[in-house]
Amino acid sequence: MLPLKVIHHICMVIIIPLDLSTSCFKGAGCNAAEFEALVPASVTTLSGSCVTVPCSFTLEEEYKDKLLPECIPTWKKDKITISTTFKGNLTAYNCTTTLNDVLEDNVQYYLRIDCGKPLRYDFSVYPVTIQIKGKCNGTPVELGCSAPSYCDTHPPTVTWTPALGLSTQLQQNDTVTSTLTFNASHLHHGNNVSCTAAYYIPSGNKTVTSTRYQLSISYAPRNTSAVGSPCLPAREGGCLNLTCTSHANPAVSEVTWYRIHGEHILKIGTGSSLSIQLWNGNNVFFCEVRNDFGTEKSNVYKIDIQSKLIQNRKIIIIILYALEVVPQPKP
Ligand SMILES: *[C@@H]1O[C@H](CO)[C@@H](O)[C@H](O)[C@H]1NC(C)=O
Ligand SMILES: *[C@@H]1O[C@H](CO)[C@@H](O)[C@H](O)[C@H]1NC(C)=O
Ligand SMILES: *[C@@H]1O[C@H](CO)[C@@H](O)[C@H](O)[C@H]1NC(C)=O
Ligand SMILES: *[C@@H]1O[C@H](CO)[C@@H](O)[C@H](O)[C@H]1NC(C)=O
Ligand SMILES: *[C@@H]1O[C@H](CO)[C@@H](O)[C@H](O)[C@H]1NC(C)=O
Ligand SMILES: *[C@@H]1O[C@H](CO)[C@@H](O)[C@H](O)[C@H]1NC(C)=O
Ligand SMILES: *[C@@H]1O[C@H](CO)[C@@H](O)[C@H](O)[C@H]1NC(C)=O
Ligand SMILES: *[C@@H]1O[C@H](CO)[C@@H](O)[C@H](O)[C@H]1NC(C)=O
Repeated sequence: MLPLKVIHHICMVIIIPLDLSTSCFKGAGCNAAEFEALVPASVTTLSGSCVTVPCSFTLEEEYKDKLLPECIPTWKKDKITISTTFKGNLTAYNCTTTLNDVLEDNVQYYLRIDCGKPLRYDFSVYPVTIQIKGKCNGTPVELGCSAPSYCDTHPPTVTWTPALGLSTQLQQNDTVTSTLTFNASHLHHGNNVSCTAAYYIPSGNKTVTSTRYQLSISYAPRNTSAVGSPCLPAREGGCLNLTCTSHANPAVSEVTWYRIHGEHILKIGTGSSLSIQLWNGNNVFFCEVRNDFGTEKSNVYKIDIQSKLIQNRKIIIIILYALEVVPQPKP
């Protein structure tokens, strides 16, 4: 029985920063006298993760004194309230909120403030669009781990192995929560991280409990490579088997092959392997792969079929060979 649990595993988001210097809202002493919400037009995240939307707002002058700490901020999608965690401070006109379990791409969400009558307002003309496509790679990931604290004066010490990044420990009531923040990279994918709580008991005995967690880091395709293997001898009309490989999580869902012919790029097929016919001259190919997080083009694979040139080379080699083996006349 372990008292530790991973409380979240979030690939945090690319947040488009709010430029507060050019914005005007009442909390900052401006004279805007309208209902306005200031949110980024769009924010990118990963499917199933949460996303924090920076937000501020203004009210019409006559409603200003109705804005009390008891007011309830919610967020809606198509008039339906969604699951959120409010992070801001309404009375300071800060409506920053974390939207939980975001699943759909390109959906608009808007703020609603309910202070009871008469101040009930939907900021539906100032929505934020959540786009699902952020890459985890290189963005901060947070892992949280909490352990019960049985004795306030000797809270447990929570540590992470390996120490992938910075961790901060917070004690709240009877629980200690440690948050590990690190920059996710594809190299972390599949790694096992442990969270350990060490309790120091007055007797001097130390007890330790821990849990392990396997990281799943999503990333766009990397190291995409195209190779060909011609049916020998390589000749015009002969076969060429092309294979496209890539590292991606989740695995690539689409592989497209292209042939470069002079100025033109022709789509020639799909699938990780493809068998095609060689043309006379330069045969140039590449593949392009896709997963939910992005696309990548491979290197260019080239094979030159010029039968005449090959024969000429053979002749030259034979001549050179002949010259070498012919004994030099002695002086
Ligand atoms: C609003 O609240 C959030 C969360 O507490 C904070 O990060 C942000 O800096 C605040 N914004 C302003 C303009 O004070
Ligand atoms: C919220 O903002 C108001 C007004 O600026 C301030 O008096 C109050 O202390 C803030 N509350 C919190 C929890 O920060
Ligand atoms: C801590 O305990 C107090 C009183 O029992 C409770 O009101 C508060 O919500 C608790 N805080 C957290 C973060 O659980
Ligand atoms: C993550 O990367 C940023 C920018 O490269 C850097 O400033 C920050 O310190 C890194 N964070 C961690 C926990 O390594
Ligand atoms: C993490 O643990 C799992 C299950 O025990 C194991 O299959 C996997 O190989 C481990 N990963 C690494 C990188 O050690
Ligand atoms: C400390 O642990 C040892 C070994 O587990 C045990 O023999 C001893 O009784 C413990 N001491 C106390 C005060 O609990
Ligand atoms: C790509 O290849 C390089 C060098 O072979 C390797 O270090 C790296 O881990 C590979 N990337 C992935 C995502 O497999
Ligand atoms: C190319 O692919 C075909 C069909 O999969 C196979 O029969 C053939 O042996 C392959 N040729 C080479 C050179 O790999």
